[in-house]
Amino acid sequence: MLAEMLARSGHKILGEQPPDGAKYWAARFWDRDLAERDPLLGEHYRAQKADLAQVIEKYARDADRVIEFACGTGEFTGMMARLSLAKEIVALDISAQGLEKTRARVGHPGLRTVLGDFWEDHDLGTADVVMCVDAIHHIGDPRRVMERMKSFVRPGGVFIGNLWTVDNFHEFQRQRYGALWHLGRSAMFLGSAMVIKASGGRLRSGSYRTRLMRTSEIEPLLRSVFGEVLHVCADRYFVSFACRVEG
Ligand SMILES: C[S@@+](CC[C@H](N)C(=O)[O-])C[C@H]1O[C@@H](n2cnc3c(N)ncnc32)[C@H](O)[C@@H]1O
Repeated sequence: MLAEMLARSGHKILGEQPPDGAKYWAARFWDRDLAERDPLLGEHYRAQKADLAQVIEKYARDADRVIEFACGTGEFTGMMARLSLAKEIVALDISAQGLEKTRARVGHPGLRTVLGDFWEDHDLGTADVVMCVDAIHHIGDPRRVMERMKSFVRPGGVFIGNLWTVDNFHEFQRQRYGALWHLGRSAMFLGSAMVIKASGGRLRSGSYRTRLMRTSEIEPLLRSVFGEVLHVCADRYFVSFACRVEG
């Protein structure tokens, strides 16, 4: 199919170049509530949320300090505040609008929001639990993102997150945008890839803001980055997980 061909060509051109949607994300907030109400895809977002709630209850309940990267509008920040005994929750995002909604949504007395880019230093310290939902694949190359996230987890602590997967990506996008608009978006992606390549990476566009992996590649990657994999749950479009960092 044409969209698949365009996307494949774009990724071939980009090679190992990681996605960089920082400017794109900083200018807006991602509306999770809207995604969850989608008539076709909403059930998958809600299923991920239900699975992550169980993971938080099981592995994060006794955490003292939590860091959440890319908290968006605070859906999972609020969940952590409700389901864990954490005294301090640090929630970082590059979107000021997202953080404003997080502060309005989460009434936890130990909540500290941090506006900034994941890749920059914000003196966050370490935490018993580090969490990142629906964002690892947007922040950069998933391995490099998770290696850096691991550096914020205390020895013996837990990392909780998920990844959107490439296996049924085009089916997902066709349901979300319709076949024609998905084709247009795939053509724009290929165009962006050409511009990024031709400019030696100096010119970027929000079109290249996601790097997806196959479901089958995820567990081996988690094992090699974190050591112990505590939980993996694969859906048609996402994989959620929890890992322990060796003590
Ligand atoms: C799809 S949203 C998920 C938001 C939230 N975790 C949720 O599940 O509702 C992706 C989030 O990643 C954030 N993000 C993307 N790149 C970032 C970066 N380099 N540094 C910090 N946040 C980033 C975006 O601003 C956005 O809030």
